[in-house]
Amino acid sequence: MEITLNVNGESHRLDIDTRTTLLDALRNHLDLTGSKKGCDHGQCGACTMLVNGRRINGCLTLAVMHEDDEITTIEGVGQPGALSPLQKAFVKHDGYQCGYCTPGQIMSAKGMIDEFNMGWPSNVTDDLTAMPDFSRTEIKERMSGNLCRCSAYPGICAAITEAAP
Ligand code: FES
Repeated sequence: MEITLNVNGESHRLDIDTRTTLLDALRNHLDLTGSKKGCDHGQCGACTMLVNGRRINGCLTLAVMHEDDEITTIEGVGQPGALSPLQKAFVKHDGYQCGYCTPGQIMSAKGMIDEFNMGWPSNVTDDLTAMPDFSRTEIKERMSGNLCRCSAYPGICAAITEAAP
């Protein structure tokens, strides 16, 4: 089936099997390999990307469902040759070790910060939405879908704390 995907501000036409996940479409058909495949069933967060500004796991959704969506991957963060402030903060605070989970961590953190700037979604919990800023507890809760098998969590939290408003 031929579909068009809008990724990082560019439109791509591709011919894919309708059973292809969004993650596989990006990695195998568009050579956008920044989004990683860890578990391939929604448990690790390595494939986190933004669809219309919301965090999703690319391994859990089919590419054909996203023809009219704006998809943002790690390749769309920052400028060529220039890291974004969030990426710089990850470097500064050693928010990674092997680096495999880092694209997903950064996309999840970006989505979280964007959610904060838009006003937290009201459907999380009363306790969390009542919190006015980024506490360590809140960062941990909102980043809980992204696992780091090297346990670089202190650096990840420090980076997000620095980059967050
Ligand atoms: Fe998608 Fe692990 S690869 S959540």
